[in-house]
Amino acid sequence: MGPRLAFGSSPRRRTCRRSWPRSSSPTIRAGTLLPELPKAAYDVWVRGYGLVDSPRVRSEPGKTLDLEAVVAPSEAAAAEYYPAIYWYSILKVPEKHEFTGSASERGGMPVHVKSQAQWLDVVKTNGCYGCHALGVKATRIIPKELGEFRSSVQAWERRIQSGQAMTQMVNNIGRIDTQRALKLFADWTDRIAAGELPASKPSRPTGVERSVVVTMWDWAGPTDYLHDEISTDKRNPQVNANGPIYGATEESTDLLPVLDPVRHIATQLKMPVRDPKTPSSKDLPMAASPYWGEEPIWDSQTSIHNPMLDEKARVWFTSRVRPSWGGSTEKYSRRPGTSRRRRAGLRSSSTPMAMVSGMITSSRSSRWIRRRTSASRQLSTVSP
Ligand code: HEC
Repeated sequence: MGPRLAFGSSPRRRTCRRSWPRSSSPTIRAGTLLPELPKAAYDVWVRGYGLVDSPRVRSEPGKTLDLEAVVAPSEAAAAEYYPAIYWYSILKVPEKHEFTGSASERGGMPVHVKSQAQWLDVVKTNGCYGCHALGVKATRIIPKELGEFRSSVQAWERRIQSGQAMTQMVNNIGRIDTQRALKLFADWTDRIAAGELPASKPSRPTGVERSVVVTMWDWAGPTDYLHDEISTDKRNPQVNANGPIYGATEESTDLLPVLDPVRHIATQLKMPVRDPKTPSSKDLPMAASPYWGEEPIWDSQTSIHNPMLDEKARVWFTSRVRPSWGGSTEKYSRRPGTSRRRRAGLRSSSTPMAMVSGMITSSRSSRWIRRRTSASRQLSTVSP
C-alpha cells in the first residue's frame, strides 16, 4: 500500500476558464502538505481541468510548497484529464424514432429494445457502466496489443471478450442491437482516433468544492478489484467510527482487504469455502486480455459481496461456499423441497454460454474460451 496524493490546495487565481493557449502559468498558493499523512516521501503535483500535470516535486508531510500549474498547450491535452463521461457522451445513439417495436427487413431495432431510454439504460446505468466507466483511455482507444483487425467493428467484437468478464460483456451487448451497437462503438473510437474531442468541458470547482481533500489507499492486490466496501452500520453511521473498512473483492480474489484508515495499514483475510470443490472465477470463459494476456487474473471461489456491519461492528458478507444445487456435486443437487423445474432453473450457466458461443464463432481467439460452472451463494461471516 502506498498512499498517493494530488495537491489539495486551492489555486489563487482562476486558472482555466480562458481559452487556449495562454502564455503565463498561474501560480498555486503556497500550501502545506497535510501533516496528518503518514511519514513518507510524497510526489506532489498540480492537476486540474484546463491544465496538464505539473512536474512532480518530492516532499514530506508538514512541508510548505509553492507549485506552478501548467496550462494545457491544447484542448486535446486538456481533454486527457476530463472525466470519462465527457468522452462517452459523444457516442452516437440510435434516434428515438428507430425504436418502432418491430424489427424491419432493413435491420431496425430488435423488438425487445422498446425505446431509446432502454438502449441508454444498457450502455449506461444498468449494463456496461455497472462494472466500469466507458470513456476512460483504455476504452476510448483500441490498444495495438489487442491485435490486427480488418475493421474497428471487428476490433470491438473482440475487445469486449477480453478477460474473465467476457460472458457479462457479451450478454450486455446482446440485450441491445448487438451489431448496430458494435458499429456505434467503433464509430466512437474512430472519431476519437481522428481527433474528435468531448463536446463540452468540465468546469473548475467553485465554492466549497475547492476545499475537498480526497485520500485514496491502494489497499488490495494489484489484480484485485473492489465490488463494494463497508465502514459502518447503515442504520447507525456512528458505529465503527475510525475503525477498519472491509472490502468485497467479488470474482477477483478470496483475500478480502481490511484497511485501518487511521494507521494506514492494509491487511487481508481469506474468505473460506465449505466445499473445496466450489468453482472459482479462474475457470470463467475468457479471451486474452491486451494487458494480461492469456493469464486468468481472477481466482475467487467465494465471490464475496455485500459487506454489512451490524450494531456490534461485526462484518457480514454474502459469499459462495459450495457448488450450485444443480451442480456436479450429487449431494447438493437433491435439495429437499425443490421441484425438478426449480432445480433446472438454478442451473443458470446454459443461457449465457449459448449467447457467448453465438458471438465468438467469428473470433480467432475461441481456443481460449473455457467453460463456466454456476454456483450458489450463502451468507457467511468473518470475525474482525
Ligand atoms: C461484469 C463486469 C463488466 C461488464 C458488465 C462490462 N464490462 Fe467491459 N470490462 C470488464 C473487465 C473486467 C474488463 C477488463 C478486461 C481485461 O482484463 O482486459 C473490461 C474491459 C472492457 C473494455 C476494454 C477491453 C480491453 O481492451 O481490455 C471495453 C472497451 C469494454 N470493457 C466495454 C464494455 C461494454 C461496451 C460493455 C457493455 C456492453 C461492458 N464492457 C460491460 C468488465 C465488464
